[in-house]
Amino acid sequence: MVYREIPYPIVRMDVRSPMDVYVKVREDYRLFAAKGALFTAEHCRMFDRTALKLFVTARDHESADKLLESFLLDTLTDPQLNTKAKAEIIYSSSMDSIRKVFETTNIKTITELERLSGSMTRLILSDSRVMDDLISVTSHDHYTYQHSVKVGIYGTALSFSLFKDKIHEHNMAELSTAFFLHDIGMAKVPEKILDKRDPLTVSEWDILKRHPIWGHEKLVKANYLSDEANAIVLYHHERCDRNGYPFRKSGDEIPLYAKICAVADTFESLTSARPFRQSKTPFEALKIMQSEMAHEFDLDIFTAFIKLLGPS
Ligand SMILES: [Fe+2]
Ligand SMILES: [Fe+2]
Repeated sequence: MVYREIPYPIVRMDVRSPMDVYVKVREDYRLFAAKGALFTAEHCRMFDRTALKLFVTARDHESADKLLESFLLDTLTDPQLNTKAKAEIIYSSSMDSIRKVFETTNIKTITELERLSGSMTRLILSDSRVMDDLISVTSHDHYTYQHSVKVGIYGTALSFSLFKDKIHEHNMAELSTAFFLHDIGMAKVPEKILDKRDPLTVSEWDILKRHPIWGHEKLVKANYLSDEANAIVLYHHERCDRNGYPFRKSGDEIPLYAKICAVADTFESLTSARPFRQSKTPFEALKIMQSEMAHEFDLDIFTAFIKLLGPS
């Protein structure tokens, strides 16, 4: 029997289990709650105390996706649940969704990501405190997925701060999806380059720098051609001072959404630990961006980002 982990917690008091749910005990899978069973205080205690991971069987994969999606919707609109818990659910389900897109880039996986981005942006619109909680959520999973999700969150939050009451002039679900997808071309970069501890050689850099074009090709192949994804995937490494890549565009030649992504992307890279360098604190990262890189960014966007992360 093939088991698959459920990407986010579904155990909540007095909620019925949407399917047979298993836990892994050493190498065995044991039934934790049968389909339709009420989660009890005992279930919740076990789940919270032991950080249990839950699994479904292969037989339930398809229906699990549908059930989890409606569960996600119910959860995110549940007034009883605090914004921190909602942010954690969005984060872990985004990690699961972006992993699927990297493994198989097609319209089905991207549409799933888009639905999730839609839920996230609706959630932020209904309660702006979610934005702070989303920004503070962390995890220790695969770096590229984690990076994609965090840039997705920072980019979305920054767009909300920047556009303010003009937010409805933008398609936030598509824009948010595009931030999540910005590095999809990295799926084509060999792991040995991504994980290299020593500085990259010139030819390795040349390969890495192709990821915007590879990302664009992937989206064309997947038949996913939103203007937002097009702009962000292709141009997120262009810089206002013409020192970016792959087209060395400058200032007004760079689409606005790509400039937003550039700020979110740079901040996320600086604040994440990589095999070859330590992470900076958010304060250190902003200082470096201000003193050494300010000419690379759009000043209004960078200022909005500083305000977003500063004390409220
Ligand atoms: Fe990138
Ligand atoms: Fe990136």
